[in-house]
Amino acid sequence: MFRDIRDNKQVNRDHLSFCIQFIEDLLSKTKFTRLSYINLLNTTQEEDDWFVNHNVNVALMIMAYSILQRLPHKEIVDNALSGMLHDVGQTVSAWELLMSKDELSREEALPLRMHPHKGYELMKALPVSDQVKQGILFHHERYDENGYPTTLPYNRLPLLPKIIAIVDFLEAVALPRPYKHDKGLGMTQALAKSIEETSRAFEYEILSRFIRFMGPFLTKGEIFYQKNQLVKTNFGEMARFTAFGNTWMTPEIEILVDEKNRTLKRPFKVNLGNDFSRQIVQILPKEKSEQQLVFILRETGRYEEYMKELEAEKKALEKAQKASQPTPAPSNEQKSH
Ligand SMILES: [Fe+2]
Ligand SMILES: [Fe+2]
Repeated sequence: MFRDIRDNKQVNRDHLSFCIQFIEDLLSKTKFTRLSYINLLNTTQEEDDWFVNHNVNVALMIMAYSILQRLPHKEIVDNALSGMLHDVGQTVSAWELLMSKDELSREEALPLRMHPHKGYELMKALPVSDQVKQGILFHHERYDENGYPTTLPYNRLPLLPKIIAIVDFLEAVALPRPYKHDKGLGMTQALAKSIEETSRAFEYEILSRFIRFMGPFLTKGEIFYQKNQLVKTNFGEMARFTAFGNTWMTPEIEILVDEKNRTLKRPFKVNLGNDFSRQIVQILPKEKSEQQLVFILRETGRYEEYMKELEAEKKALEKAQKASQPTPAPSNEQKSH
């Protein structure tokens, strides 16, 4: 379909019906759970197929999220349709550049930035809702307004393109692009990276709601914080992750360094589920996090205490593992008497 659009430089009603049918089939034929949609994400991204897969993957994630939001059927279809066609403008704007394996300079890549507009133009005369068209036109807008085409201030944009922007980012970062020798970081890492884009590309409230609903499904339960991993708050404080909270975005953390970069003599714990002013805006990579934590703890003389705590936890874990091991089945000899 995308090739046909590229060759004929137009989206016609048949293309549209094909997409809608594809979405309706997924919605009606099978009793899909949210998880099933996620399992459908295509990760075998060969050179020829990656563009199709990318668009379908974005549509699947939007569909799953829309279902979780309990949106009406029409809106679920519209949202998924917009996701499926969000990059349709690439087919007519700069296809060769898009398929290029070479690193492109900023100038060389500029024509690619025309695709939201081109996509909108392709859809203009078709019988689809404004929501679908807006999703296509605004999906590269950013919270800091450094996106494109920047036709409206961020706070006046509709919600759908903001969600598409998040999903688009996750798809690109998480999944492999074998032809580009890019293995992809996986969803857990991609979600952690998306948090770093808070206040730049994404609005915190929108992203955190998305992660709250979709995080457990996308990562199949893998939590993107590790105990003791360092995080940065919106106040500029450094804290360590101490316990999982009610939701993915509201763990319990211990503030170790204040906003003026002073290591606290008396660190204090905060449950982000109760403290709405604080937000996590960055999760430090594991190695960096470990080094820095040791440094902070040594500075405050808490290193020994921390090591004891770790040791106790390790023992408790081993004990729990032993207790959960099944008792060996009695041998035949024992059974016979
Ligand atoms: Fe795009
Ligand atoms: Fe995209």
